[in-house]
Amino acid sequence: MKLLELKKDLYYVGVIDKGLEVFDVVMQTKYGSSYNSYLLKTNEGAVLFETCKIGFFDEYIENIKKICSLDDITYLVVNHTEPDHSGSVAALLELNPNIKIIGSRIAGCYLGEITNSSCLNFMEVKPGDSLTVGEYELNFVKAPFLHWPDSMYTYIPKLNSLITCDSFGAHFAWSDVLLSKMNKDYADYKDAFDFYYEVIFSPFKKYALNALEEVKKLDVDLICPGHGPVIDCDIETVLGWWKANSEIENVENKALVVYSSAYGYTGLGASQIEDTLKSQNMPFESFKIDVQNYPCLKEKILSLLQTSKYIFIGSPTINSDAIPLFYDLFASLHANFKKPQDVFVFGSYGWSGEAVKNLSDRLTQIKYNVVSSYRYKFMPSNEDKASLVEATKNLIK
Ligand code: FEO
Repeated sequence: MKLLELKKDLYYVGVIDKGLEVFDVVMQTKYGSSYNSYLLKTNEGAVLFETCKIGFFDEYIENIKKICSLDDITYLVVNHTEPDHSGSVAALLELNPNIKIIGSRIAGCYLGEITNSSCLNFMEVKPGDSLTVGEYELNFVKAPFLHWPDSMYTYIPKLNSLITCDSFGAHFAWSDVLLSKMNKDYADYKDAFDFYYEVIFSPFKKYALNALEEVKKLDVDLICPGHGPVIDCDIETVLGWWKANSEIENVENKALVVYSSAYGYTGLGASQIEDTLKSQNMPFESFKIDVQNYPCLKEKILSLLQTSKYIFIGSPTINSDAIPLFYDLFASLHANFKKPQDVFVFGSYGWSGEAVKNLSDRLTQIKYNVVSSYRYKFMPSNEDKASLVEATKNLIK
C-alpha cells in the first residue's frame, strides 16, 4: 500500500482484503473488504485510530512505519472493539507497550477480554469529552450500538474529519481508498453499502438515526470508516443512503397468519382463525408455507412479522418438532430492541405434538409475546374450533 495522506497530518494506514468471501460467518462479501486504520501525526506523537485483523498485522505495521516510528505512537483510539479492528492491539502493544489506549468504558472491558490483559494502559472517554494531543483536539462522539455497545466516533475539528469505524462503512475492497477516485455511478459500492447496513446495522436503526443527528451537528468533509472507501466526496449522498436504510417500519394494527399443513388439519385451524379475524373486522394476510413456495414468500413474511401487531403461527408436528421452515424464518429476525408483538401458536398433531411448544419457546426467545397456544389431535373437533375462535378474539381484543 502506498503512502496516502488524506489531509495534512492524517494518513490512511489500513489494509485491503480483496480475497475476503465471508465475514462474521453469516455475511458473504462479494466485493472483499478492508480494515481501515488512520494515523494522525502531531507534535506530541502519533495517534492511531483502530488496528486491523491479526492476519494483516505485518502489512499494517509496514504502513505505519512509512510515516513514523512505532515508538512515536502515543495513543491508540479504539472506536469499536470487534476483532477485525482490535485483533492486533496485543501485537501492537508488544512492539510499543507505552501506547495509551482510548475508548468508551465498555470498549475498555471488551478489550481487556480480547487481549486477556487486566493491565491495559486504558483511558476511558465519554461522549462529549475532548483530548488535546499536540496541535490537534479530538472530540468523542456518542454512537452506542453501532453496532456494539462500545461504539463511538472521533471528530478532529481542525481537519473536519470524523472517524467512525463500522458506521458508514461497507465491505468493499477499494485499492484507491478514496471515494472520489470511484466511478460516480457507485453501483457496486452502493450495493455493498446497503448490504452491509442490512446485515450489521438494521437491528439498531434507532441508534443509527441518533448518530446521524450527531454527525449533522459537526462540520465534516471527510468520513473515515472502518471498512470500504474513505468518504471524501458526496458525503450527503452517503448519509442519505444511511438515512434511507434507517427508516423504521412501525407496527400496525393488523394480523398475520403463517402456517403449514401436511394433511389440512392445521389448515382447518388457520381457517377458523381467518374467519374470526374477518368477523372482528381485523385486517390480515395469511400464508400457507411449504418447501416450494417458502423461498419466494420469505421476505414478504419477514416484513409482516415485524409490522403486524397480532401474529398467528401454525405448524403440525413432524418427527417431534415443528416444520423447519419456521426456524429459518425466525432466525432472520432481530431480537435486539424489538417492540412487543402478540402471538398465538397453534397446530395439529398425531402422537407427540411438540411443534406448538417448541415454536412458542423459540418465539419467546426472540422477544415475541406469546400470549397463548393451542394444539389438537388430527382433525379439529367442534370444541377445538371454539377454542381457536376464543383464542383469536382474546389476542386481538
Ligand atoms: Fe468491522 Fe463490528 O467490526
